[in-house]
Amino acid sequence: MSKIYDKLQSCLRQIKEKTDFVPEIAIVLGSGLGDFAANIEATAVISYSEIDGFPVSTAPGHAGRFIFGKLAGKRVVAMQGRVHYYEGYDISDVVLPIRLMRLLGASTLILTNAAGGISEKSYPGCFMLISDHICLAPSPLIGANLSEIGTRFPSMDNVYDRDLREIVKKCAAGIPIFEDVYIQTTGPQYETPAEIRMYKALGAGAVGMSTAVEAIAAVHCGFKVIGISCISNMACGLSDTPPSEQEVLEIANKSGAEFSKLITAVITNI
Ligand code: HPA
Repeated sequence: MSKIYDKLQSCLRQIKEKTDFVPEIAIVLGSGLGDFAANIEATAVISYSEIDGFPVSTAPGHAGRFIFGKLAGKRVVAMQGRVHYYEGYDISDVVLPIRLMRLLGASTLILTNAAGGISEKSYPGCFMLISDHICLAPSPLIGANLSEIGTRFPSMDNVYDRDLREIVKKCAAGIPIFEDVYIQTTGPQYETPAEIRMYKALGAGAVGMSTAVEAIAAVHCGFKVIGISCISNMACGLSDTPPSEQEVLEIANKSGAEFSKLITAVITNI
């Protein structure tokens, strides 16, 4: 068996020693969006640092823990904070939590992030429903295939599940949201204005440093995926002020109430 699969099994064992909770829905909370976890009637909270071998996030705005509990009558597990490729982890470690939540029993995954707006429809504080992605980071599936969890050449035709996207659109009444393509860079530097012009020409509506690699691993292991970006700033060159970490966290935090409303409605209706 591969080292990656062994590590996954070891993390799974350690979580199962702490809780027997079986989630249906998994949620990854992006930068500044972690407060959503307060809506969960928690039955167990496990810090990433309590799990030997688990990648611990160093990014600002990421608390670094799993919250297991009920929300809108559904069994959910939320990740308050994720790890990013730019933190220096192997790409297999970046997606380990996704695979872990699938092995714990979840079958639907809601990926969220803060992103820079490229689309003309975007403005700070609005949301983007991810219709598809362009991944500029390495594939998390490179290396020996984990045949226990997925196939060698998975289709990426319907990464962000069409039926689930219809549900999100129905739940978004009164919330400013548009649907478009997300492009993932490795980061950690923000983009140049020339890169943003290129991404726009390629068809991207928003840019960020996460999510696409997680979505690839999620589809590989059999998750149905929803992706929602909180547009925290206009991408570089599209406004008078360049993006900053402070602005990203501030705007994502401010969007918290609407974000919670949307995600709660989606979970209720899945
Ligand atoms: N670029 C990349 N990642 C981001 C941005 C951005 O402008 N905003 C939030 N995450």
